[in-house]
Amino acid sequence: MSFRSVAIDGPAGAGKSTLARRLAGELGFLYVDTGAIYRTVALAVLRAGEDPSREDQVVPLLDGLDIRMGYGSDGVQRMYLSGEDVSAAIREHPISGAASQISAIPAVRDFLLDFQRKQAREHDVVMDGRDIGTVVLPGADVKIFLTAAPEARAKRRLLELEQRGQEADFDRVLQDIKERDWKDEHRDIAPLKQAEDAALLDTTGLNLEQSCDRLLSLVKEKIAL
Ligand code: DC
Repeated sequence: MSFRSVAIDGPAGAGKSTLARRLAGELGFLYVDTGAIYRTVALAVLRAGEDPSREDQVVPLLDGLDIRMGYGSDGVQRMYLSGEDVSAAIREHPISGAASQISAIPAVRDFLLDFQRKQAREHDVVMDGRDIGTVVLPGADVKIFLTAAPEARAKRRLLELEQRGQEADFDRVLQDIKERDWKDEHRDIAPLKQAEDAALLDTTGLNLEQSCDRLLSLVKEKIAL
């Protein structure tokens, strides 16, 4: 039996996870947030007291890592590190930068490749990340490159942080986003870029409902539901 897949790539804060989760719900597919997997590796590296930018410190940890993914009764993806539910811990601020650093290490990407592909071998999936359409699932039925202007993404991120009761400053958030974009786009291996056969969806100036509608119609053009 062959399963269907939707690959959604794009920069941080473009709304990928919210939209991908909604889309997966509409289609009845499993939602796989691959950023969460990279974040879990980053957390393990920080907890081990190692430097996430140092390949020589990160690579020796990989073999001993016990990372699992599961789904709660609410259908939301959860990440486990050595059996501990770290779904909340991986969302804390220092993890974003560390995840970006470890994701530039080729051995980390190799290590996670099969973990991600396995999900698509076993389920219909909507998978989001940076290299899903280009590297992880080059044969995906639908590929979407989801983006928005950095300022629009920073505004959304600020709102998210405020809703969680965390203080944040617009300029700092914007700078973080730009730095992460630069790193993700310029790394040597699997950089963030639009696959040639991906449809571009720019959500600058669109609200969530409008973005969702556009996404769903792009997907329906390619996949018979
Ligand atoms: O989507 P996110 O912010 O949770 O991802 C965290 C980091 O992980 C991001 O800076 C880049 C990296 N990442 C990646 O390199 N490839 C993926 N498929 C997903 C995430």
